[in-house]
Formats: sequence, C-alpha cells, structure tokens
Amino acid sequence: MSDLKRGLGEAVQAAFADLGLPPDLGRVTVSDRPDLADFQSNGALAAAKQAGRNPREIATAIAERLAADPRLASVEIAGPGFINLKLTDAALAARAAQVAADPRAGAETVETPRRVIVDYGGPNVAKPMHVGHLRSSIIGESIKRLYRFRGDTVVGDAHFGDWGYQMGLLIGAVTDENPAIGAEVERLNAEGSTDEPVPAVFEAVTLADLDRLYPLAAARGKEDADYRDRARKLTAELQAKKAGAFLLWRRFAQVTQEALTRDFHALGVDFDLWKGESDADPLIPEMVAELAAKGLLEDDQGARIVRVAREGDKRELPPLLVVSSEGSAMYGTTDLATILDRRRTFRPDLVIYCVDQRQADHFEIVFRAAQLAGYAHPGQLEHVGFGTMNGADGKPFKTREGGVLKLSDLIDMTRAKASERLHEAGLGEDLTVDEFQETARKVAVAALKFADLQNFRGTSYVFDLDRFTSFEGKTGPYLLYQAVRVKSLLRKAEKEGASVGPIAVAEPAERDLALTLDAFNAALVEAYDRYAPNVLAEHAYRLAQSFSKFYAACPMLTAGLAVRASRLSLAGATLRQLELALDLLGIETPEKM
Ligand code: ARG
Repeated sequence: MSDLKRGLGEAVQAAFADLGLPPDLGRVTVSDRPDLADFQSNGALAAAKQAGRNPREIATAIAERLAADPRLASVEIAGPGFINLKLTDAALAARAAQVAADPRAGAETVETPRRVIVDYGGPNVAKPMHVGHLRSSIIGESIKRLYRFRGDTVVGDAHFGDWGYQMGLLIGAVTDENPAIGAEVERLNAEGSTDEPVPAVFEAVTLADLDRLYPLAAARGKEDADYRDRARKLTAELQAKKAGAFLLWRRFAQVTQEALTRDFHALGVDFDLWKGESDADPLIPEMVAELAAKGLLEDDQGARIVRVAREGDKRELPPLLVVSSEGSAMYGTTDLATILDRRRTFRPDLVIYCVDQRQADHFEIVFRAAQLAGYAHPGQLEHVGFGTMNGADGKPFKTREGGVLKLSDLIDMTRAKASERLHEAGLGEDLTVDEFQETARKVAVAALKFADLQNFRGTSYVFDLDRFTSFEGKTGPYLLYQAVRVKSLLRKAEKEGASVGPIAVAEPAERDLALTLDAFNAALVEAYDRYAPNVLAEHAYRLAQSFSKFYAACPMLTAGLAVRASRLSLAGATLRQLELALDLLGIETPEKM
C-alpha cells in the first residue's frame, strides 16, 4: 500500500477527472490547519478559474464524490472552495501498523533502479581537507546512502585530486628545500623506472611538510612567472611518467591518503572507490586522438581545446582546455577522461558530482564536451552544487588567523564541544570513559552533519558551534537525544515485560505521530528527486517533535494493557524510522547517553 497522502491524492485526482476537470489540479497537501483537517486540496479554485465556474460548486461536487471513501472521516469545504480532508482513526492506525511492521519503516523503492556514481569528497593531494570539502563529504555521503536505500546500484568515488599543476608546484618546492631528494629525483628521471619502490630518501617527506610548502609554492607561482613555468614543466614531467617525479608523487599521495582516510573515517564518510584524477591518465592519449578524429579539437596558441559554447548562451562559456601548451592534462581533461573510464567500467545511468557550486562552469564545460564526444547524453551527468559554510562575517569560514580551517581541527573542536555539552546537560554520566568518548564523537558528527543538511544545499550557512552542538532546537544532538530517549523507553518496557500490540490511534498526539510516520516516504522521494537531503532532515526533526509531544501527552507504562501495547508499537516504529532517517543523513545513533 502506498502512503496515505499519495493514496488520497489519487482519489481526489480521480474525482477531478470524473468531473471532466484536469486531474493534476487535484493535488493534496498537508493541511494548513491541523486542528481542522489532515490534508487539503486547493484544486477547486484553480479549476473554477480555468472553467469560469464557481469554486465552491466544484468543491461541493468533488466532496460528494469523496464522501464514500472509507479512509475519510470528513470532507468539508472551507472558505472560497478549499477541500479539507480528515482521515478516520482506523485508516491512520492501519497505516501506522504497516509502517511498524515494515523493516523499511514505510519507505518504498524506485520502480526502475539505476546505476549511479556519486563523485564527492574531492580531497586533494597535499592540501589537507578544509571546510570546503566538509560540505561535499556530508552532502555526498547522504545522497549516496539515499540513492542506495531507494534501490539504485550506487558507487561513491572520492575522485582524489592528484594530477594537476599543484603536483608540479610541490615537486619543485620539495626538491628545492631538500637537495638530497632533488638529486634522487634527477637520477631516477635519467635512469630509473616507475616500477621501482619509493626510495627511502623520499620518506623524509611528511604531510606536515606538504602542508607547509604548498601554500608558499602556490603563492609564489601566482607572482613569479619563472617559478610557475618550472612548476608546469615538472607537472608535464610527472605526467610523462619520469621516474623521479613519479615516485616522489607516489610519496605525496601515500602520506596524504593516510591522513584523509582518518578524517573521513572520523566523519563517518566511506568511499567505495578511491580513484583519482591520475587513474584517468592512461585513457588520455586515446581520448585526445578520438576528439581529434571527431573534429572537436582545435589548436589554440600551442594548446589544444574543445569549444563548447552554444548559440543562445547567455554568456560566453570558455572552451575545455584538453592539452596545455606544455603538453599537460588539466583538471577538465582528467574529468573528461574519468567520464570515459566510468562509462567503460561501470556503465552509469547517472553520475552525481557533489561539488561546490562555484565550479558550475567547469562542469558545464566538461559535460558539454562529453556530449560532443558521445561519452554521455543529456541528463546523465549532474552537477549537484552547494553553497559555502560561512563565518560570522558572511564570508567563507576562516580561522581566527584568517587561514582555512583544517577539517581535522574542526572535527577535534566539535568533539571537545560535544563532550562539554554532554557534561553540562548531565548526560553520559553512567557511561564508561570509552563509551563517553564514542558518544561524544557521535554527537559531534551529528552536530556538524545536521547543521549542514538541514539547509537546502544551495544555501550558504553560518558556522556556529554553540548552536550546532546544543541539545535544544533544530540540531543533530537534539535528534540523537530523542532517539536515545525512545531506546531507553523501549528497554525499560521490555524489562517490565510490557509487549507491543495492535495499534489504535485516538488522541491528537497519536494522530499526529501516525501522520508523520506516513510522511517518511514522500520526504524520501522528494529528497531523492531534488538531490535535497534537507527534506529528509526536516522529516527527521518533525518526527522527533511529534514523538516528543506524543510522549508528553500519552502516558505509556501507566496506561491500560491494550493502549500501552499500541503506544509501544508506535514508539518502536518511530525509533526505526528515526534511526533510518538519521542513517541516511550519515548520522549514527548511540545506544545510551
Ligand atoms: N578536488 C577538487 C577540489 O578540491 C574537487 C573534485 C570534484 N570532482 C570532480 N570530478 N571534479 O576542488
């Protein structure tokens, strides 16, 4: 059975069709006046306008057709022609029972599963992850889980940034600073092989070195043309697989990946594939040949480009730079070759790129080139962009010293705050030290993720650790607290031998909870269709609130046997749905707090 809202929508639409009115006007929405009705349809007004008729007359005719629907306790017309629909307690109870019995808590799967790649996280070699990668990781992880839960075959890929100009910058900076490494690079370039193990002298390079050197090198590259040219040449050497450059690069990738894996793990982010830009490199020669054969490649002052501008574009879109004048592959080159690689190895129906919306042009250019090359069809590649996490000044978040905040520092900071908050709230007192640590970690992750995911991804938001970690308000910690409360209630009931039983709803708070449980599927569908985990976040919050009211208004352990059994069933369904929703947001629930 489908959810009640959709079922009613279908009935109202059928009534519209019956009267010769456009059925899609019969859409049903959640009532604006929950005191009067559960759902409403405003379609009679639009239909009347179209047909030049009286809206109340149309509403009356619709209402007459709906009157016999056994799910409805009342159908009333309000104001100029709104149709108010109120469900019977029995219909609500039947639906709640279904949700309670369903391991998926009322969630349906897609009719036609697709093969989907989610490209997210996007960490780079040598650049420690910063808050920009936080949003991609959080949103991408949630979209990946959501798509998988709805039944698609989904692969999450980190698309490690490991093959561009920044590699040349780093090779230059590291060899300048450490002559021994420089000499070994020279020697290997002349007589070594890329199959050799990374030489021991390269092991002196640590992530901290890369961290320190990269910003300096990047800044110098901007000012100093000679320095920049050299970095470009070194990039070209790396891409030409000169053994010295290549093995040093391997060292960079190793040390970076270890640290990144740790950060992602702390955040509860897991990739199925940890491929990088460099993995697309072997496909580049044939791709370039193919682009040339298709007449798409043009020479442009020594570089090779694909023009993607179209007639009717509002502004001129630059071409895709495929091969630089030094002969290097660029960011767009590896992205295009990755499309080809994914097409061969996975045959995706859809690739979702969860990347900062400031890269919108980059993706538009790459996607157009992919279509021209015949690597993708329209709609197959989607850039799912997002806004920034800002500081109090409304600009992308910076540390107090004005630098970018490292993700690992952010996570540590949030954990410390979460522990403080737990102590303040008198929570976690019965936990062992390890359990407490683990709970604080979960609270911190919930705080960061929920604060992000409750906003539509396109919107920027302000980082406010105090608010994010509060146990009150629309926060991750509040949701965890509610979930843990239901868990302990159910544990207590079990201890007292109270069992679950058939669901009956009567009290307004029970009705409201049953309606909320019903709304899960619609929230999933919308979140899925719009790449919008915020819709799911909103549902989770609403569910926690409905439960909280229900818990206050409807005594459980002191109620009569049948009522108690019904309420425990409702609580069980709530817990399952809440945990599922949180899991789809990438948030883990502790057992105790
Ligand atoms: N590494 C890139 C960055 O930090 C993001 C990668 C996004 N994914 C992609 N296929 N281009 O900006």
